[in-house]
Amino acid sequence: MKDSIGVFDSGIGGLTVLKEIRKRLPTENLIYLGDTARVPYGTKSPETVIRYTLRNTEFLVSKGVKAIVIACNTASAYGLSEVSKHFDIPILGVITPGALSAVKATKNNQVGVIGTEGTIASLAYQKEIQKLNSHITTHTQSCPLLVGLAEEGRIEGEIVELVIKTYLEPLKPQTIDTLILGCTHYPLFKKMFQKILGNQVTLIDSAVEVASNLEELLVKRGLKGRGSEKGEVGFYSTDAPNRMEKIGPQFFCESMTKVHQIEITF
Ligand code: DGL
Repeated sequence: MKDSIGVFDSGIGGLTVLKEIRKRLPTENLIYLGDTARVPYGTKSPETVIRYTLRNTEFLVSKGVKAIVIACNTASAYGLSEVSKHFDIPILGVITPGALSAVKATKNNQVGVIGTEGTIASLAYQKEIQKLNSHITTHTQSCPLLVGLAEEGRIEGEIVELVIKTYLEPLKPQTIDTLILGCTHYPLFKKMFQKILGNQVTLIDSAVEVASNLEELLVKRGLKGRGSEKGEVGFYSTDAPNRMEKIGPQFFCESMTKVHQIEITF
């Protein structure tokens, strides 16, 4: 599919971002790559994440995409600046849009950020928020177990509640009024986060902001499609496709007819 928008994530979590892009730009053709053979990225070294990010980008570029969204916080944190040096199509990450939404939302300037170990260690969100508003204090917490639970399709119930409560406990005394869900998998737990934190805390799911930034970027560069028919979506995974076909629709909220497996040799 030439002239499509490429979106990739370490696994199936990025389908939450794809869903928002599809909602915002329904006539665009989309190609999604889930690097399911190498998920999770969140526990890997920056060098490894950068390498995976480059390979995923190369794959999408080989498909003729006109723009790419890195729908993975860890890959955005470590790999965005590196890949932007190597390719001349627009490439968008999820960190800046998420930080921007949080800065707009907070009233008491106390923002919580949760993400993978890698994303939290990179300090990417703190740096971005500081750039936008130096009066804001960020409080961070990694929540590694949530990725496994989401990839298993387990998003409710006692175990999930206990895990989330345990992770959020250290953030409680900080009286945050805004929480960035800094991992593509976390929007699936929105209901549970809200139940535990209460309605006074605004949850930031950067996917909505990413989709709107993408549209602005496409318009600015004259790349927005002019078609009026619903766009097609192609799905690729680096591991056997059955898992993505089975669990993916929970993230994407549309049926996913065929996932193509690609071979990775690196
Ligand atoms: N997609 C990753 C992210 O948003 C989470 C899963 C992983 O660790 O690879 O950071």
